[in-house]
Amino acid sequence: GVVTKDPESGVMNVGIYRGMVSAKDRIPILMWRAQHIGHHVTAWQNGGSSEMPIAVAIGWEPSLGFTGGSPVPKGVCEYDVMGSIRGAPVDLVKCETVDLYVPATAEIVIEGYLQLDPKNWDMEGPFAEFTGYVAGDKSPKPTIRVTAITHRNNPILRGAIEGSLPGSYSENGICSSIMRAATAWNVLDRSGVPGITDVWCPPVQTGINLVIQMKQSYRNQAKQAANAIWGSSAAHVRYKHITVVDDDIDIHDYAAVDWAIAHRVNAGEHDVIIMPETFGAGLDPSTRKRDRNPALFGTGKWHRVLIDATMNLDYDPDPDLGGARFPPKVWPEQKDVDAAMKRWSELGLAKPKSG
Ligand SMILES: Cc1cc2nc3c(=O)[nH]c(=O)nc-3n(C[C@H](O)[C@H](O)[C@H](O)COP(=O)(O)O)c2cc1C
Repeated sequence: GVVTKDPESGVMNVGIYRGMVSAKDRIPILMWRAQHIGHHVTAWQNGGSSEMPIAVAIGWEPSLGFTGGSPVPKGVCEYDVMGSIRGAPVDLVKCETVDLYVPATAEIVIEGYLQLDPKNWDMEGPFAEFTGYVAGDKSPKPTIRVTAITHRNNPILRGAIEGSLPGSYSENGICSSIMRAATAWNVLDRSGVPGITDVWCPPVQTGINLVIQMKQSYRNQAKQAANAIWGSSAAHVRYKHITVVDDDIDIHDYAAVDWAIAHRVNAGEHDVIIMPETFGAGLDPSTRKRDRNPALFGTGKWHRVLIDATMNLDYDPDPDLGGARFPPKVWPEQKDVDAAMKRWSELGLAKPKSG
């Protein structure tokens, strides 16, 4: 967990940010302006500082990595969220050379000052990234000038498996799928989007693709949901593609979502919306190299996509369908399913899969 502090409010932020040893006492890190650490950098620079106090706490309870890697809302300290998860406050200790606090029982703590002037940046990257690709080009990046390293006796250096690929989910992929789905649901609730019944990010893509299940009560509710998500700072490195389905579609089932996309999406009716040129993950290999430069732009460049795979409430209710907008599904009535099951079992045949 990388700890920094807002110079005005004093509220600390804990994030996970990659870094590379470039010299005995120097660590350049990958810092994007739209992340909360980047907000802090801007605030320290506005106050005239050329360096920002920073501490890296390595090796503590799992809630450190889980909350550090989550887009906890700005102004809320991750230590408070960790306290809530573990049911007791985090026992913090003041660093020895910077005015920041770290978990008292962390295995290793690196303290220092992040250099904000590009003249003092070292080369960093590339790195085996969460996308499953080697990413984050070799370039000069904001660099920690290390002032102290403290550690327990025989400390454990905790690492993290980053890249997710089909058939090989990483720690980041599993954590992100949970934290990013939960955060997206919070964002939707706080924005007042009604009718959300489930939110999910399958682990293989680390929260880049978000699936939302909703019970629609009015037209274009899916667009309201996508706008709320994309307008949140939580969307900086995630939620590039959002698919919204009705509440009869199980969003944990790829086939069900695929079926909804096949039969409820009509691109000519604005069911596929591109939100061009937003902030986004600069580690995405589908982004042009120039647009992946954090020093030049502070963020990546994503063209985001909404796939609205809900039944279109802009269609007129059809009197031939009893006022419904879509025809009934062909799945037999439950009594017929039950009768068929009974017959199969009478014949000693294996129970057929239902659904
Ligand atoms: C293992 C891991 C490594 C990460 N590396 C970086 C990184 O190098 N740079 C970055 O901006 N975000 C990185 N992230 C994502 C941020 O930690 C994440 O967006 C987090 O929400 C940032 O929190 P903050 O905005 O509160 O600081 C990483 C996440 C994980 C789980």
